[in-house]
Amino acid sequence: MNLAITIDGGAGAGKSVLAQTIAKRLSLFYLNTGAFYRIITLFIIKNQKKPQDISLKDLDISVKNTKNGVFKIYLNGSDVSDKLYTPEIDNTVSEIAIIEKIRGIAHHLQRAAVKNISFIAEGRDTGTVIFPEAGLKIYLDAMPEIRAKRRYLQYKEKKIEKTFDEVLSNIKKRDMIDSTRVRDPLKIPEGAILFDNSYLSIAEEVEILLPIILSYKETM
Ligand code: DC
Repeated sequence: MNLAITIDGGAGAGKSVLAQTIAKRLSLFYLNTGAFYRIITLFIIKNQKKPQDISLKDLDISVKNTKNGVFKIYLNGSDVSDKLYTPEIDNTVSEIAIIEKIRGIAHHLQRAAVKNISFIAEGRDTGTVIFPEAGLKIYLDAMPEIRAKRRYLQYKEKKIEKTFDEVLSNIKKRDMIDSTRVRDPLKIPEGAILFDNSYLSIAEEVEILLPIILSYKETM
């Protein structure tokens, strides 16, 4: 049987780093679901398209994990993974991701990407909507100020000029959009493990969660 693990949570909750770490430890495919909305947003900006006019056949999107477990996503065969985390895409993606048609396209691509393989997926609706049948679901959370600090440091590393207050207000705005949207709002999946990592390092977090994940693996 294939393993199916989901990690839901808001912006900056640390979903990617946790999913990547677990994926590496257990040799699972790591699926970054937010990257699909980001790549669709990039496509829309680049081609000056109206989101409503986009259909599945316009998008040639593929994904892979590198040997080091890094998630890569390709548009028309070219790797755009590093072009998706700019302030321009950050500021637009939530609005694109609320459009029903776009969500349908993204869900189709996300499910197809992990068909018949063991995976860990992270995003805002992985346990609730994309993979409701997943065997283990985790909901990650942290205080907004802490999530903003993480994002702020990531921007700094990439030499992107943003003040802490700008990042914090973007996180709060995205929380609001993500949790109040009509289609697939951010919410705790039924049966999920609730985990607040505000004051934990990734190593501490993994130390606590890994035994739970391993015991799920043993049941398979
Ligand atoms: O996780 P992220 O910051 O890369 O996500 C970018 C946007 O995509 C986020 O603002 C909302 C949307 N998203 C979503 O609606 N559902 C997901 N499973 C993942 C992301």
